[in-house]
Amino acid sequence: MRKEDLIVVPEDLKGIYERCAPEHIPIATPEMARFLYTMVTMLKPKRILEIGTCIGYSARWMSKAIGKEGQILTVEIDKEMAKQARENFSKGDYQNITLIEEDAKIVLYDLVRKKEKFDFIFNDGPKGQYLTYLPYFEELLNEKGVLICDNMFFKDYIFTEEDPPPRKHRTIIRNMTDFIHKISYHEDFTTTFLDISDGVSISYKGGSKK
Ligand SMILES: C[S@@+](CC[C@H](N)C(=O)[O-])C[C@H]1O[C@@H](n2cnc3c(N)ncnc32)[C@H](O)[C@@H]1O
Repeated sequence: MRKEDLIVVPEDLKGIYERCAPEHIPIATPEMARFLYTMVTMLKPKRILEIGTCIGYSARWMSKAIGKEGQILTVEIDKEMAKQARENFSKGDYQNITLIEEDAKIVLYDLVRKKEKFDFIFNDGPKGQYLTYLPYFEELLNEKGVLICDNMFFKDYIFTEEDPPPRKHRTIIRNMTDFIHKISYHEDFTTTFLDISDGVSISYKGGSKK
């Protein structure tokens, strides 16, 4: 058996990651997608918010897990990505996904203003913005809701303090490190990190205080 054989991929999502990786289309690894799928299946959220749709790969995985009773709102800033995602959603039974083509910050502001609530947030958007988005996530997440963030370890750059990384990554690293400290000691969230894919955080809103 090979390690990749452990990841069961739905028939219509097979091979997408392998096709996207050489073209540098930044979708979740099958390992991360399967993890998301399992979390959504377990937690049965009624409403999911995703930041960073790309071509809709992770949204399609979550759509299968959430079923017809649930709804996914996914946000993508890039027109070409959004177009491809729409095409991909039209290829199957993905009516439970709604795509908003806009900057996430504007959408988050608007959702908070309208007092919208979600049971599950998957943050896979711009890595330098996690810290900025956090207050919105706090507002938007229901009690007992779950926030999952991908790319938390940013190719392990966040662990390389003694070996300064390339200048172009420094702002992201600083923001990501601040986000990690904030979410780890946040009084409303209980957080843990998993070393899968590019690092993932799972934060539960509620539960025990530190
Ligand atoms: C890592 S990819 C998302 C992958 C996707 N979740 C998947 O696994 O299939 C990040 C996406 O966030 C989008 N993005 C970047 N900045 C954004 C912003 N300010 N608002 C909304 N989307 C943004 C990028 O265009 C890119 O498609």
